[in-house]
Amino acid sequence: TPRVFSGIQPTGNLHLGNYLGALKRFADAQNKGIESIYCMVDLHAITVWQDPADLARATRELCAGFIAAGVDPEKSILFNQSQVPEHTQMAWIFNCVARMGWMQRMTQFKDKAGKNAQNASLGLFAYPALMAADILVYHATHVPVGEDQKQHLELTRDIAIKFNHDYGVDFFPITEPVIEGAATRVMSFRDGTKKMSKSDPSDMSRINLTDDADAIAKKIRKAKTDPEPLPDSIEGLEDRPEARNLVNIYAALADLTPEQVIAEHAGQQFGTFKPSLADLAVAKLAPISTEMSRLMQDQGEIDNILRRGSDRARNIATPILQKTYDIAGMIRS
Ligand code: TYM
Repeated sequence: TPRVFSGIQPTGNLHLGNYLGALKRFADAQNKGIESIYCMVDLHAITVWQDPADLARATRELCAGFIAAGVDPEKSILFNQSQVPEHTQMAWIFNCVARMGWMQRMTQFKDKAGKNAQNASLGLFAYPALMAADILVYHATHVPVGEDQKQHLELTRDIAIKFNHDYGVDFFPITEPVIEGAATRVMSFRDGTKKMSKSDPSDMSRINLTDDADAIAKKIRKAKTDPEPLPDSIEGLEDRPEARNLVNIYAALADLTPEQVIAEHAGQQFGTFKPSLADLAVAKLAPISTEMSRLMQDQGEIDNILRRGSDRARNIATPILQKTYDIAGMIRS
């Protein structure tokens, strides 16, 4: 039976890319009745420095974001990683399965470590092994993510395959990445060749899930575009990254395909298309922002949700970790 797992880092500035590439699709999987486990990966967040008070706040805000986006903590399991120690226990095993050479190929490590990789944390280097542990400690079969996580999920498969092979077992599932829909790579509103990101210094480059209706509309109105009208077929968007990005966002928000959006809006100038997109985005996103601030008023309730979710997560993870230890010859007496 399928089991979905995915995670998001609580590092602030939750944005439209996180919503369309992840959160909205998490709610969709849950609503299809698939067993779903969603994690705020606070241990991944500290692979780069996080101020403790900011981390705690960002974790609660992310939890509010999950719920506001439609993830129901009764239907899905919603928790923060550090409350389920089986993740780090499994990660150690995987640190001993993964090879240095595999990790050195990770483009996210190279991007984040930058030129001075000697000064990056050991945790940043080992990051993908912890991510594999997140997934495999639940025997998850499907992992919905945005396109930027593809290489990490290939590594997760490699770890599962090597573990199964080395120990001569058929224990870990070979996980399927689920990178689907019109908006698996939402681009910056300032530069259509860069992905929308939490860390972009320009706030105009992204829509934050905490933005109110005015901010959402303004950012879309000011988004960079080219002077041409929308083409009458999808191929006409090929060399127009900014135009394509707005069409993809429209499609994902409206649950349409980009082809359907082009069919409806062919020949429109951005002076016409942008206001339609702004109306749609405000209708879909402003209620999320309102609901997030409402939920953030009751910190105790958020913490209760995370504790209950962590208990449920541990119930699944504990026997899988114990079995892994047994396979590896660790004595439990
Ligand atoms: P993170 O926190 O960077 O991003 C969370 C999710 O949002 C997606 N995403 C995007 N999707 C479309 N367009 C964008 N511009 C965009 N930016 C971000 C990401 O692809 C991701 O799905 N390593 C992960 C967290 C993680 C995880 C896991 C994910 C830890 N353990 C286990 C899945 C399974 C990360 O840093 O995502």
